[in-house]
Amino acid sequence: MSKVDVVLGSFYGDEGKGKIIDFLGGHADVALRATGGNNAGHSIEVDSEKYVFHLIPSGILNKGTLAIIGNGVVIDPKVLIEEITTLKEKGKDVSNLRISTKAHVIFPYHIEMDKMLEENRGAKKIGTTARGIGPCYCDKYERCGIRIEDLYSKKFKDLLERNVRNKNKIFRLYGWEEVDSEEIYKEYTKYAEVLKEYVCDTTTLIHKLLKEDKKIICEGAQATLLDIDFGSYPYVTSSNPTIGGIITGSGINAHDIGEVYGVMKAYSSRVGAGPYVTEQDNEVGDMIRELGHEYGATTKRPRRCGYLDLVALKYAVMVNGITALCMNHLDTIGKLDTIKVCTAYERDGKRTEEFTTNEEELLASTAVYEEFPGNFPDISKIRKRKDLPKNALNYIKRIEEYVGVPIKFIGVGAGRDEMIYEED
Ligand code: IMO
Ligand code: MG
Repeated sequence: MSKVDVVLGSFYGDEGKGKIIDFLGGHADVALRATGGNNAGHSIEVDSEKYVFHLIPSGILNKGTLAIIGNGVVIDPKVLIEEITTLKEKGKDVSNLRISTKAHVIFPYHIEMDKMLEENRGAKKIGTTARGIGPCYCDKYERCGIRIEDLYSKKFKDLLERNVRNKNKIFRLYGWEEVDSEEIYKEYTKYAEVLKEYVCDTTTLIHKLLKEDKKIICEGAQATLLDIDFGSYPYVTSSNPTIGGIITGSGINAHDIGEVYGVMKAYSSRVGAGPYVTEQDNEVGDMIRELGHEYGATTKRPRRCGYLDLVALKYAVMVNGITALCMNHLDTIGKLDTIKVCTAYERDGKRTEEFTTNEEELLASTAVYEEFPGNFPDISKIRKRKDLPKNALNYIKRIEEYVGVPIKFIGVGAGRDEMIYEED
């Protein structure tokens, strides 16, 4: 029996999970997505061709790798079909895609609801990606959601009409434009036809593959601090991007989990609203944004940037059982004169190394920093950790010592191969 290796975000997303997945994926038989939807954006560059994935596990780029979208994912079929089409146009084989019968479907009324709710929040906006993610998960838990398998059922039209009726009542109440059930029905029956060949019971399939000793990599989306339970609620996404979500979002069990890779950057970023203790809303943050090209792959929004927060990272290690860290952008942070890293929070005159998800506590916390000299020489050609400049090594060692987990992957440049990876 093989195990599922999982790649998770350790902070507020956009840690460069795609790059690590791409690296690990080369050795995998199966690539799995279990959580989130097209709020995720994972960019990968192969043979100087850039691919941005929102739904399909990026492992599909490797010939022969089975790409599974698990039950925990919410699927906008229009976006999925666009992704399939783009891949086909670029000459990629998509026949290895599998979609869970149980995954929930995003409808236009979810997207409209997402936009409407954001507008109604006024000054307290979450800054969602406006992809209908939250409203779709709401329907799932309210038990009126429509699953992929329902698209092929006789009851689909009735389910859709009921949902549209109910959503339109709310839209009317808030003076929002209503949606048309007939139009959606026509559109979605077409989508269903296109997707049919990929739909199956992915849970049974995954367990069969595990028995066959196939190597499975689970591609996490979003990140620990965006988790609906363990993140900075309410400024979070509507799913569990942490390790538990991988289990419920795919049907594997706790024993099936192998390595848990936590992806992080040598600094930090956040897109959307909410507290962010180490944010540098100043020229340092601006510099990191420009040096690290910190603009959203999904929404193109400029990301808020700041220093690495070890208090938060240690929390991510704890919640997910992270066994190894993958640190991207060491080259980027090395361009600063001085690198700061947060090793404690100070609140009400007291120091703590324990993370909190309480909004008021987070807002009242200031970061306590340790400083490291920056100005690394060009490290992009380095492939052995021991060859890194002393200042870079000291920074890495301090992080490892603080969180108690080794950094196994070190990104030293934007390129696919610009990475230090050493086997045990
Ligand atoms: P990847 O997988 C960064 C953020 C949004 C917003 C909040 C809620 O690329 O790391 P949602 O649309 O999910 O209801 O928005 O979560 N968010 C992300 N931020 N990377 C992501 O995914 C994100 N997915 C959601 O910006 O603050
Ligand atoms: Mg993103």
